[in-house]
Amino acid sequence: MKQGLYRYLPIEHSLVFEHDILDMPLKISQATLGQNFIAEAPLTLVWTVVPYRMEWRYALAAHRVIAMDAGHLCQNLYLASTAINAGTCAIAAYHQEKMDTLLNVDGKDEFVIYLAPVGKIS
Ligand SMILES: Cc1cc2nc3c(=O)[nH]c(=O)nc-3n(C[C@H](O)[C@H](O)[C@H](O)COP(=O)(O)O)c2cc1C
Repeated sequence: MKQGLYRYLPIEHSLVFEHDILDMPLKISQATLGQNFIAEAPLTLVWTVVPYRMEWRYALAAHRVIAMDAGHLCQNLYLASTAINAGTCAIAAYHQEKMDTLLNVDGKDEFVIYLAPVGKIS
């Protein structure tokens, strides 16, 4: 696959190429407070949240449900990675504004909540 930023479309279960990002592995590791191992991964999944999609229904409880949802997603990535002899590592230590800028989301109506690099285990 061409290096760059892709958007996952869950309903279609497909990927859409958004754009290339110059020095993307380096930028991701800088945005994750210098966690250099992330730059070595061939793939990093980054989850963003659109709070309104939870708030219209769960109101003040939305932040709890959003956190649970993100946790479930990442846990499933651990299972899927293991099934193909790959490894992943949940990442919650990151610079919010840098990650939001990297993904071109506004940090208010949509922002990064979690990410995880994936790579083969040798
Ligand atoms: C919410 C959450 C955030 C995490 N953030 C990071 C992180 O930023 N950097 C990192 O190296 N590991 C991070 N981890 C992974 C943990 O450090 C640890 O590797 C993982 O929970 C597995 O632990 P175990 O190998 O001892 O079972 C995170 C884990 C969780 C659940």
